[in-house]
Amino acid sequence: MPALVLLGAQWGDEGKGKATDLLGGSVDYVVRYQGGNNAGHTVVVGDQKYALHLLPSGILSPGCTPVIGNGVVVDPAVLLSELSGLAERGVDTSKLLISGNAHLITPYHTTLDKVSERFLGKRKIGTTGRGIGPAYADKINRVGIRVQDLFDESILRQKVEAALDSKNQVLAKLYNRRAIAVDQVVEELLGYADQLSGYVVDTTLVLNNAIDQGQVVLFEGGQGTLLDVDHGTYPFVTSSNPTAGGACTGTGVGPTKISRVIGILKAYTTRVGAGPFPTELLDEDGEKLRTIGGERGVTTGRDRRCGWFDAVIARYATRVNGLTDFFLTKLDVLTGWERIPVCVAYEIDGKRVEELPYSQTDFHHATPIYETLPGWSEDITQAKTFDDLPKNAQKYVQALEEMSGAPISAIGVGPGRDETIQINSFL
Ligand code: GDP
Ligand code: IMO
Ligand code: MG
Repeated sequence: MPALVLLGAQWGDEGKGKATDLLGGSVDYVVRYQGGNNAGHTVVVGDQKYALHLLPSGILSPGCTPVIGNGVVVDPAVLLSELSGLAERGVDTSKLLISGNAHLITPYHTTLDKVSERFLGKRKIGTTGRGIGPAYADKINRVGIRVQDLFDESILRQKVEAALDSKNQVLAKLYNRRAIAVDQVVEELLGYADQLSGYVVDTTLVLNNAIDQGQVVLFEGGQGTLLDVDHGTYPFVTSSNPTAGGACTGTGVGPTKISRVIGILKAYTTRVGAGPFPTELLDEDGEKLRTIGGERGVTTGRDRRCGWFDAVIARYATRVNGLTDFFLTKLDVLTGWERIPVCVAYEIDGKRVEELPYSQTDFHHATPIYETLPGWSEDITQAKTFDDLPKNAQKYVQALEEMSGAPISAIGVGPGRDETIQINSFL
């Protein structure tokens, strides 16, 4: 069982950090394959809480090698501050490996992210403002700066010049901003070179060799399926591919080497930023989910929009990722509701629709069709096996499994590592 992908099945914040950390002790490598420091992964180990943005959650497991793959966009300032923050807390970060092909987020990407959102006004995406979209746009436009460019000053300067040529026009003429000086950017980037050089290797070679030797590699997604630029609720998405295929393009490991794809699935639904969300609750139930679930963004501190579980989305995640398993998280948050509605299908313009509509217009018109399941009031945070759960909690899990199209192999009943019911082993 050498390579597994672990990814978000909804709109992010499903609990990927906790799930990755749980597996961290049993795997050799944990690899981020896309996204950047737009992610916020919370890991609770004993009484310690860690918020990771760019580093793979495996960094907290001593035997595990954390890897930043080529598909990630790296803000070097954030990376170094995250590394030093962990080092101060006694975490060994020396094993980190970074792909030289990963693209850099530079100060002009962050500036452009913020000003373009402001410019969009009411039509804004609600990005995290971390420069993610502009950095990926440059990558696709072939004017990006890569980690390896830090080690060749002349190339770096030429590339920054080429990138800023047009961007400064846009900043000055369209957004009424001051132009950004090439020297300033080059100098800042060169300042990171020595600090990062020891981490940079050919990660594709390392990972493929590891898999060939029978070592276990875990690919940790950022964001979630519905935020995928190809398969999500475009244009209200992030600019990368959190879905399973992204693990291949974002690391240079072929699909034949991946044996398992685990979808992290919250027992209800949340979303941050703008865009359609059929089961969103704007009433006191939504507020209650937010409060009990602690649904506030780890990266931007924004309140997360909350709603009931949406089985249409879970089925879609199974389909576009080829999921083999689900890890159902935050079941404990639902304790105390007398009845729990679950969206089983949508009504769109008077018709019942079972699958996620591929038309944006249809999705914006979708209203949920709910089935209501009986709730439970017993505390479940101490449950260690499925049988420890109250009957109605068991029925809730079984109903979700039937609707979602893949077995639920683990259940989260609290934020801690050990607050997990493992039904089938992932390894
Ligand atoms: P990620 O972005 O997918 O890693 O998720 P976040 O860390 O942004 O948000 C998930 C939050 O839920 C974090 O605060 C976790 O500590 C917490 N969490 C994860 N699993 C569980 C669970 O099973 N129960 C509870 N109550 N909290 C959980
Ligand atoms: P984790 O890994 C939830 C959302 C933003 C915005 C959209 C685009 O913690 O699950 P971006 O800055 O990526 O261009 O913003 O995507 N978004 C997330 N929402 N969890 C995340 O990461 C997210 N990363 C980006 O809120 O709607
Ligand atoms: Mg998060």
